[in-house]
Amino acid sequence: MSSSSLDEPTEAQSAASPLTRIGEARWVLLTALAAAVAAVVLFQVPFWPAAGAMLAMTAVAAFIPRRSASRRVRLNTQREMRRMWPGTGMKMTVDALPTPCFVADGRGITRYVNAQALATYDGVKPGDPLSFSLRAPSLLEAFDRVCNSGGAERISWIEKVPTETWYEAHIAPIYMPGSSAQGRSNPLPDFILVVIQDLTENRRLERMRTDFVANASHELRTPLASLTGFIETLQGPARNDPEAQDRFLSIMLDQAGRMRRLIDDILSLSRIELKAHVRPASIVDLAEIIRHTSDALSPLARDMDVKIRIDLPKTAVRLRGDRDELIQVVENLVENALKYGSSGNFVDVGLSAQVDDLNAASWVLSVRDYGEGIPSEHLPRLTERFYRVDVESSRALKGTGLGLAIVKHILTRHRARLEVESEPGEGATFRVRLPALEQSDEQEETASA
Ligand SMILES: Nc1ncnc2c1ncn2[C@@H]1O[C@H](COP(=O)(O)OP(=O)(O)OP(=O)(O)O)[C@@H](O)[C@H]1O
Ligand SMILES: [Mg+2]
Repeated sequence: MSSSSLDEPTEAQSAASPLTRIGEARWVLLTALAAAVAAVVLFQVPFWPAAGAMLAMTAVAAFIPRRSASRRVRLNTQREMRRMWPGTGMKMTVDALPTPCFVADGRGITRYVNAQALATYDGVKPGDPLSFSLRAPSLLEAFDRVCNSGGAERISWIEKVPTETWYEAHIAPIYMPGSSAQGRSNPLPDFILVVIQDLTENRRLERMRTDFVANASHELRTPLASLTGFIETLQGPARNDPEAQDRFLSIMLDQAGRMRRLIDDILSLSRIELKAHVRPASIVDLAEIIRHTSDALSPLARDMDVKIRIDLPKTAVRLRGDRDELIQVVENLVENALKYGSSGNFVDVGLSAQVDDLNAASWVLSVRDYGEGIPSEHLPRLTERFYRVDVESSRALKGTGLGLAIVKHILTRHRARLEVESEPGEGATFRVRLPALEQSDEQEETASA
C-alpha cells in the first residue's frame, strides 16, 4: 500500500532557523573582506574604498544565494517530511489496529489506509477523497469539524442497508513535528486519523441481554400477578368458602410451579453459558442416556397418548459429553415431540453413525414426531430465548420457551449441531449431530482415570 505525494510544508516548517541566518551574515562579511584584500593586493587600489565596494557587492550577491539557501532548506524539509510521513512507525501502528483505519489530510484526501479498511471498503485508495469510501453524512460532518477545530471527536451512526449495522468512529487530529500548528492557540491539524469500529455484534448482545431481562421479568410477572390476585381473594371474598379455597390453592400451586420452572431454566442457561467454551471431559454412553430419558418420559407419553418408538444400536455409543446436559437435550427434544406433536400418536427416537464429506465421523440422534409440524418461517428462530410458535399453547403445556435455547448452548459446548426439518401437517424432525469419539479422547480418558 502506498500513499500519494504530500502537501507543501508550511512557511514556518520551511523557513531557515535564526542560527542559519547568523551563519549566512558571517559568510557575507568574510567573503567581502577576502575580496577587498584580493583587490588591494592584485590591483593596488586603496583598501577602504575597495572594502566598501566589495562589501556592498557581496551583500547584493548574498541576497540571491540567501534566497536559494532558504529554498534549499524548504525543499529538504519537504523531502524529509515526504520520506517520514506516513513513516514506518506510523504505518505499523495504523496497520496493527484491528479495525478499519484511514489517515487523511486537511482537504479530506485519503493518505493511508490499513489492511482492514482495504478489506472492508471496496475500491478505497490513497489519493481519493475520503468521502469516496466513507459516505455516512454524520461522519463526514464530524471530520470537517475536526479539520476546523483541531479537537478529537467520537461519533456513532447506523447504516440500514444491506443489513442494520452500528458503527462508531474516533476522529483524531495529527500534528507533524515542527508543524505551523504547534504553538498556535487554535491549531489546525496537518492530518486526521479516522478509526472505525463495527459495533453491531456488541449492540446485538446488549439487545439480547435487555430482551432477556424484559422477557424473563414478563414471564415471572404473569404468575406473580395471578398469585397476588388469588391471595387477595382468599383473604377477602373466599375467606369462608372452603371449596373455592381448594380450587384457588391448586391454581396457586400451578403458578408457583411455573415460576420455579422458569427460574430453574434461567439458572440452567446461565450455568451452561458460563462453561460454553469448555469442552466436557468425561466419556458417556449416549444410547444409555436416550433409553434412560425415554423411560423417564413414559408417564408424560401415556398422558399425551403417544407411543415412543426407540431405535438404538445394540452396543454402547461412547462419546465425549456431560451426562446431565445430554439428558437435558434428549429430554427437551422428546418432551417437545410429545407435547407439540401429540396428534401424530408416535414419536420415533433414533441414533445412527454417519460419516460426512470431510470424513468426519459423528453420531446422529433424531427425534421425529407426526404432529402438526412447524411453519418454515419459525424454524430459524426456535433456539432464541423465549421464542415460541404459539405462546398460549406452550404456556398451557407448562413451557417456558427456554428449552431449545438451553439445548443450543449445551450442543455448542459439545461441538455438536442441531438441525430441524418440518413440513406443516407432516410433523417435525430434530437432529443432533455429535462428534464421534476420537483416539485422543480415549487416551485422555485413560490418562485421567
Ligand atoms: N416438535 C415440535 N413440534 C412443533 N412445535 C415445536 C416442536 N418443538 C418445539 N416447538 C416449538 O418451539 C417452541 C420452543 O420450544 P422450546 O423447547 O424452546 O420451549 P417450550 O417447549 O415452549 O418451553 P420449555 O422447553 O422451556 O418447557 C415451542 O414453544 C413450540 O412452539
Ligand atoms: Mg421445550
